[in-house]
Amino acid sequence: MKNYEFLAKAALEAVKNAYAPYSHYTVGAALLTAQGRIYTGCNIENAAYGPSVCAERTALFKAVSEGEREFEAIAVAGGKDGECVEYFMPCGVCRQVLAEFCKSDFVICAVCSGAPTKFYTLAQLLPYMFSKKSIGQ
Ligand code: THU
Repeated sequence: MKNYEFLAKAALEAVKNAYAPYSHYTVGAALLTAQGRIYTGCNIENAAYGPSVCAERTALFKAVSEGEREFEAIAVAGGKDGECVEYFMPCGVCRQVLAEFCKSDFVICAVCSGAPTKFYTLAQLLPYMFSKKSIGQ
């Protein structure tokens, strides 16, 4: 596996921008494009709860809105009040949104402070995925 420590560090840095006054669960994500650019994201909660958005989708939507379409990997880190001391995995909605733009070998790096980063592919996290192929595209 390629060394994604630079991406892990970017995810941990992004946690600092998390806006999570309701759950106090702070999340950071760092998305690497095929060309080597990094887009970071954090979770952004809302008093109405429903409009809250996850860190992974913040990063992906930032990138897509800047014209990016091809991605290699994402690093994610999360935990209570900025402490990322347990591994954190992307939620189902974020996995599905990533699947819109990322191939099955896209890498998900689960980051935990002071512990080795764990690696997964999108196919591992979202087997039997529904995608554009499912609707013949
Ligand atoms: N959260 C993320 O940012 N990413 C995920 O994949 C799952 C959960 C956020 C949403 C909410 O602000 C907080 O974590 C607690 O659910």
